[in-house]
Amino acid sequence: MITLDDLQGFLAVDDINRVMKSACQDAIATPELMHLFMQRFVRYSAAYSHSVPTLCGTIGKSQCFLDPAAAIPSNADRAMDVAAKVFSAAIEEFRDPRTNVSHRTLAFALLDQLAEYAGLSAADVEHVVQAEDWLAEMVASVHNCYEADANNLADMVRAMGFHAAAETIGGNEFSIINAVLFCSQRQGRFGQFIKQHKLRFEAGTVSPWYWIVIHGTDATEGVELGHADDAIQALNYAVRYSTASEAQVIAWAGQGIRQLAAIQTQFFSRVQQELRAASTLLVAA
Ligand SMILES: [Fe+2]
Ligand SMILES: [Fe+2]
Repeated sequence: MITLDDLQGFLAVDDINRVMKSACQDAIATPELMHLFMQRFVRYSAAYSHSVPTLCGTIGKSQCFLDPAAAIPSNADRAMDVAAKVFSAAIEEFRDPRTNVSHRTLAFALLDQLAEYAGLSAADVEHVVQAEDWLAEMVASVHNCYEADANNLADMVRAMGFHAAAETIGGNEFSIINAVLFCSQRQGRFGQFIKQHKLRFEAGTVSPWYWIVIHGTDATEGVELGHADDAIQALNYAVRYSTASEAQVIAWAGQGIRQLAAIQTQFFSRVQQELRAASTLLVAA
């Protein structure tokens, strides 16, 4: 059975965690930089959330996943069972059970609050959003990595590896953001601000920081853990319902895992560069 241990070697988790933490540490220098960082992060994360169902559709229409034990070979298609293990990561992205809104709506509600905390007007926020010129390339890379050829098992497993790595790193990502942006400032003005503000939705009222916490923190299990487990199960289903060996599936998945490691590192390095350039401007102003 394929486990996280089989995939770790492709991922260099410690290196990625270090890059993520370093960027977050630069982000807490000022409320403006924290808002800038989260603006970029929310848009980068969004590329993953709407890409997961694309991969599910690709797997679902594939003829590559067949149950070798099926009594009637023509009735052996199990593609949707493989797809379901990927799809589990998408469900709450579209509807958070406590608020009945999508994770994206929660993310933008947090951005609204961070803008208020930084004292930014709507026009200031527009300026921040329009000022970047590097994110579209990162978003396109994420889309590309989630796309696969439904007639090509190796390519689909590569994309499933990318997804498994994204969900695995996702838990760390939100834990680090929570630890650096929130926990380290919990006793200060930011902690007070978050405590005093609430997001009200028809189905329920939550903290602005809720979007971060539901994905997982150092102290709490979030949704990413289950997503990562299911994403690895999808790889096991690919072994069960295809003629590829476990070693072959791990090797194909490894290609996607390496893609995720490269993109994730690139995103956090580039956002850090932007934070550093912006902090120089803020000092000069
Ligand atoms: Fe999410
Ligand atoms: Fe997830």
